[in-house]
Amino acid sequence: MTIPFVTPPQVAWASGIFSAGSLRCKSTTVADLADVFADADAWQKEAHERVVYNVEMLESPYGEGELYVGATHLSAGLIGDEFFMTRGHFHQRREQGEVYFGLCGEGLLLLQSEQGEAWLETVQSGSVHIIPAFTAHRLINTGQNVLSALAVWPSVAGHDYHSLAQGFALRVFSAAGGIEVREVRVD
Ligand code: F6R
Ligand code: ZN
Repeated sequence: MTIPFVTPPQVAWASGIFSAGSLRCKSTTVADLADVFADADAWQKEAHERVVYNVEMLESPYGEGELYVGATHLSAGLIGDEFFMTRGHFHQRREQGEVYFGLCGEGLLLLQSEQGEAWLETVQSGSVHIIPAFTAHRLINTGQNVLSALAVWPSVAGHDYHSLAQGFALRVFSAAGGIEVREVRVD
């Protein structure tokens, strides 16, 4: 009997581009990110059809114990002085964690507990980010090039984009060619 070798999907580590697998793709534009950035006037003036990030996910089964794999490609850019970022979310099933792997570009991973404690991890090629359970997460591109990260998460985790309606406790801005992190006051 000949046992066939199965060719698995491939990812180019330097870019996060998948090949040899079926993909689901989603683009998020400036228009999709209303109320996400601090400067609403600057957001209004930006071309609304401009793509801020693309997510490419491998088709894989949904169910308890199953995993999803996806790459996020976050463009470099600013809305006002604030760096481009993903919307950010808690998982609907809060007890489900996730792992991010930095592939290319430079940025930050903003993490926030349910109690509102926020912290930042630097993302670059080779960085490994273990996102704990009960922790919201958002990627921020602080560099000049596309920031790409690979993510692996439980298919049942789901996404809750609403519980952070008041936003994350930290925002990251470009200031004098560097990075300035500001705490957000929620009254
Ligand atoms: C999956 C995950 C990532 C993000 C992606 C886009 O749980 O964390 O694949 O979904 O980086 O960010 P959001 O979903 O916040 O628009
Ligand atoms: Zn997630």
